[in-house]
Amino acid sequence: MPVVFQNRKFHLYNGSMSYVIEISRDNDLLNVYFGKYVDSDEINTVYPGNRSWQCYKSMEGGCYQLGLLPCEYPTAASPDFRAPAFEAEVPSGVNTFQFKYKDYEIISGKPALEGLPAVYAESGDSVQTLKIITADEYAGIEIDLFYTVFDRFNAVCRHSEIKNIGKDGIKIKNAQSVSLDFPNGAYEYIHFPGDWAREKHISRAAVTVGTQGFETRCGASSHAENPFMIFGDRGMNENYGNVYGISLIYSGNHSFKIECISDILPRVQAGINPFMFSYCLAPGETFVTPEAVITYSANGIGEMSRTFHRLYRTRLCRGKYRDLPRPVLVNNWEGTYFNFDRKRLLDIADEAAKIGIELFVLDDGWFGRRNDDRSSLGDWFANEEKLGGSLGSLAEEINRRGLKFGLWFEPEMISEDSALYRAHPDWAVSVPGKKPLLSRSQLVLDYTKPQVRDYIVKTVSDVLSGANIEYVKWDKNRMISEPYSDSLPPERQGEFYHRYILGVYDVLERITSAFPDVLFESCSGGGGRNDPGMLYYMPQTWISDDTDAVERLYIQYGSSFVYPMSSVGAHVSAVPNHQTGRITSLSMRGTVAMNGAFGYELDLAKVSGDEKETMRAQVSFYKKNRGIVNDGDYYRLLSPYETDYSAWMYVSGDQSRALLYFAAAALTPNPIPIRIKLQGLDGDRLYTVNHETYTGRTLMNYGVYVAVNPWNNNFIYEIEGL
Ligand code: DGJ
Repeated sequence: MPVVFQNRKFHLYNGSMSYVIEISRDNDLLNVYFGKYVDSDEINTVYPGNRSWQCYKSMEGGCYQLGLLPCEYPTAASPDFRAPAFEAEVPSGVNTFQFKYKDYEIISGKPALEGLPAVYAESGDSVQTLKIITADEYAGIEIDLFYTVFDRFNAVCRHSEIKNIGKDGIKIKNAQSVSLDFPNGAYEYIHFPGDWAREKHISRAAVTVGTQGFETRCGASSHAENPFMIFGDRGMNENYGNVYGISLIYSGNHSFKIECISDILPRVQAGINPFMFSYCLAPGETFVTPEAVITYSANGIGEMSRTFHRLYRTRLCRGKYRDLPRPVLVNNWEGTYFNFDRKRLLDIADEAAKIGIELFVLDDGWFGRRNDDRSSLGDWFANEEKLGGSLGSLAEEINRRGLKFGLWFEPEMISEDSALYRAHPDWAVSVPGKKPLLSRSQLVLDYTKPQVRDYIVKTVSDVLSGANIEYVKWDKNRMISEPYSDSLPPERQGEFYHRYILGVYDVLERITSAFPDVLFESCSGGGGRNDPGMLYYMPQTWISDDTDAVERLYIQYGSSFVYPMSSVGAHVSAVPNHQTGRITSLSMRGTVAMNGAFGYELDLAKVSGDEKETMRAQVSFYKKNRGIVNDGDYYRLLSPYETDYSAWMYVSGDQSRALLYFAAAALTPNPIPIRIKLQGLDGDRLYTVNHETYTGRTLMNYGVYVAVNPWNNNFIYEIEGL
């Protein structure tokens, strides 16, 4: 089984990975090893000798310096002077803590995290959870550390639960989900910064002495930084190096930090951003941190990504669509924006049906008096005049054409110009006495208030029950400035950002479980909240408002490091592209968009006959191959950051089929032919590629020759095992 306790050591393992925690001579928990499988009884912590500036304790067995030992869940001035994972204020003012080992429990399966999204286990999984209980009796606080290990994923799911076991209230100021101390070495880290319409670009740097990292402060995981970091050996690449992935299952403000003091061990932490955060705990209450998933790969970054893809696709995403290939959709947003009526929508649906598209999505502008982005958010009642009848009758007409019907909502927002705001101005997030900032002419609904959440659950549910709606796009187009709720007393205002996200999770849980047959896609002005927390409720994400095929090569490449491609919404749009003005061929746009949950986003009624033919062929190719896009193993072959070319592939679980994708972001004149070395195939097996037969060995070592030129700047090859 994956968890063993022996000789004061906890060994969490599967066949290829070990995570070892030791109870020290002074009953502190030591983070002694995370990496390739080892024999834990042969691992012995060496206690360093006295170093001048560190505080140490003289005790039997020699001097004991916690500040030089790898700590499992370090606390402020304990006396470990490195970054703490936990800080709090207690009434005595003695805000320094020493949490000592108390007890442990090995639980079969994986308990849920109350109110928070998390990886889950299913019956039949070989999985165990270790709970280690630590306490500072003087402060009256207990911290329980949780670790789950599955035998088939090289991953550890970690979170902490902080309990007030004293007689007085305490205020938590910082509670990280994970803290890891690495041994001396040369390391690099990668993160995924971005902006609106250029999410998840790549930043890579050497780990140096000092503090480095990233964080968000806008109430969401954000376009600016994804809650994910890769930490590993300097020089790590797709197939080389010890690589650790750290992913936070959380949609609010996050913080990822690496700290190296002097030449001492790098400490890596991830969790809720302590910025403007505090949380009051009354006696007997518990605070649960979000879950962090940490993965280990001995073979580079590619294997790390495949671990996340499998784990998140099968044990984080839920519901009917978890394992199902996604319907090909057409969304009217870039086709019509707010300017539509029933005829215009049905004209698009008519063409969509002929092309083989399966789902019609009606985007923003169908409700209240919304003909631009200045009004009606909160008034989730169909504008029957604009729609030429009820939503139900429109859905019927779409269904009659053989298409499913889907609808856009932005349920966390309220327009100042809305019936909802006129009735409940106090439901918008604002600071009393100050005019709230209207961004995109909208305000944020205060989801910390139960009555607001109940109203949204009811109104959205009424719309979903009133028509045959089989897909929902859940959008969110502004971040939270002026975080304040008049429902919270002054000492609890530091809870606002976290309580807001807990409120979002509550609403999503209620709506998604009430409508289990609906496919939900999350969106936040594109990828402003593309995180694992959202994936738990919605298995698909609109990852960027940028539909330009070249830009998408970078954005989808960045996404592929942690998110399964089944979750990546990708659409073919019109040219010149609305975000960049660039003109790319329909073939190129199709190749790039067929790398995920595929769809179109343009006015199909304006498309030429030839283009419709190409689209029909694209849809039929995608339908034939979408099973492998949904659950195949993903390999990045050529990086758009290193060459003008991008290439990637999917391989079926039994290695009997594969898809090879190639797209050139730019072409220099007179390009030389290139070779692309494939990965993940069975070396001994014969495969056909482009009517030729090769062994997997040849395809992986010699590769496939590609004569790149302006007429051959993108393709998808089907690779069939014989
Ligand atoms: C932002 C989204 O990302 C777009 O796809 C579209 O739904 C608009 N909002 C609608 O307002």
